[in-house]
Amino acid sequence: MSVTSHSPDKTRAWSALEDHFAALRDVHMRDLFARDPGRFPRYTVECGDLLLDYSKNRVTDETLGLLMDLAREMHLPQWREALFSGERINCTEDRAVLHTALRGDAPVLLDGEDVMPAVRAVLERMRGFTEQVRSGRWTGYTGKPIRHVVNIGIGGSDLGPLMVCEALRPYGHPGLSMHFVSNVDGTHLAETLKAVDPETTLFIIASKTFTTQETLTNAHSAREWFLASGAGEGDIRRHFVAVSTHTEKVKAFGIDPENMFVFWDWVGGRYSLWSAIGLPIALYLGMDRFEELLAGGRDMDRHFREAPLERNMPVIMALLGVWYVNFFGAHTHAILPYDQYLHRFPAYLQQADMESNGKSVDRQGQRVGWHTGPVIWGEPGTNGQHAFYQLIHQGTRLVPCDFLAPCNSQNPMGDHHDILMSNVFAQTQALMQGRTLETVQAQMRAEGLDEDTVARLAPHRVFEGNRPSNTLLFDRLTPRTLGRLIALYEHRIFVQGVIWNVNSYDQWGVELGKQLARSVLDDLRADTPATGHDASTNGLIHWYRGRRGN
Ligand code: F6P
Repeated sequence: MSVTSHSPDKTRAWSALEDHFAALRDVHMRDLFARDPGRFPRYTVECGDLLLDYSKNRVTDETLGLLMDLAREMHLPQWREALFSGERINCTEDRAVLHTALRGDAPVLLDGEDVMPAVRAVLERMRGFTEQVRSGRWTGYTGKPIRHVVNIGIGGSDLGPLMVCEALRPYGHPGLSMHFVSNVDGTHLAETLKAVDPETTLFIIASKTFTTQETLTNAHSAREWFLASGAGEGDIRRHFVAVSTHTEKVKAFGIDPENMFVFWDWVGGRYSLWSAIGLPIALYLGMDRFEELLAGGRDMDRHFREAPLERNMPVIMALLGVWYVNFFGAHTHAILPYDQYLHRFPAYLQQADMESNGKSVDRQGQRVGWHTGPVIWGEPGTNGQHAFYQLIHQGTRLVPCDFLAPCNSQNPMGDHHDILMSNVFAQTQALMQGRTLETVQAQMRAEGLDEDTVARLAPHRVFEGNRPSNTLLFDRLTPRTLGRLIALYEHRIFVQGVIWNVNSYDQWGVELGKQLARSVLDDLRADTPATGHDASTNGLIHWYRGRRGN
């Protein structure tokens, strides 16, 4: 690797940030705004139709300057070049990280060979196939056109396509209904199969490795269901296609390689919706719209690669996150989309972020002495306001929030959208300003309440404020805008990984549970007592075996 890495807490900027934090921790954003009317124009940045307002953060020019120093001391510009130019920055798996090439328009060399011709060839195959299905020329085994698409995959082979199909429903093919089966709980597949018809259903078996237990179990059960409908083995080719990096394993499952769409080991699962894993998106939206999504990702790549760090949206968002995690001690980060179509966006980002930066050893294999990725969570507004915002406003923990909202609804209806947006702006204002004890007391007295009541209830009605948020506005949730948004968060994750000196592109933490599940499954299938585990696990296995099938 051409770039060196080191511990962030050994940098000059980190020490300076510690001193600066001590001076700033008790400063209220109310006062920062009162002193500086230029915060909004200075602390906003644009990319295409995206506007990021980061003025409601606990930062000053000095904070931002020091965070930029930290990024430079951690060699962020060099790491960014290493990412885009195909260096093997996934050091534990010795792989390049080239999801940006999937949406690129220039040659990208990997071991001296341009990957773009192969990328374009798969896009062309996807275009041919999706046009056949969407036009009704691709028919099922009884000659009827495809009406249902069932994507069987999990993690990155599920969450991205599912989130995007939900987000871009207004652009979806009216004659196709999209279904996503991920959970190995048979209920997920069973409920889906109740809603579809074997003669008009296309199954996409999506798995980078084609070894994932959940996906293969669901795929085998789906095939049995299909064959039980009266179809023959020879009909499978009209109803099952695969997306994978492993041709041999796809063949072994019984899917003709003619019906397979490939991608490559340099595409991480959670970054793969831009590859053939996006086939459900392309089927639902059409290939032109899929390419608009790619173009949106490319817009953000260009911005990330070319804008100075100080005006760089993913860099700014990443560094603000570092400020809260490592100096304020924030444990979580909330994603709050005020667009119902983005209802799976927080779940999608959970995998993207937590599987990437949920690490506790650095690139050199040493235990880190600083916190890394926060818990990512969230729900659409305004629903969340009536559920968990209480804690964000008045709880004891600091929860930095991202509010995302479109300036235009896909479904204009009366004054719904102004009401929705008034809630976005009011929430960020309330979080920032809060409400002081004096204001509460004055309001209560103005309502005519007696002094005893004022004294008793006023503390409950105080809002400390000083709670940080970013606001991301965009014109309308189009494929291009969504592409920008997804790539924005991908790059935010990358920058944080660079600062924390972790490899954001492996996921060893999911392995132990997978291995143990295999050995537990052997015990669930055995007749002899389970003795090979701890007492709790042995006991639970025994209890379950005694009661299943009751
Ligand atoms: O278990 C985690 C994981 O490996 C994810 O990283 C990945 O997105 C998911 O499983 C599915 O993997 P595959 O696409 O190989 O089935």
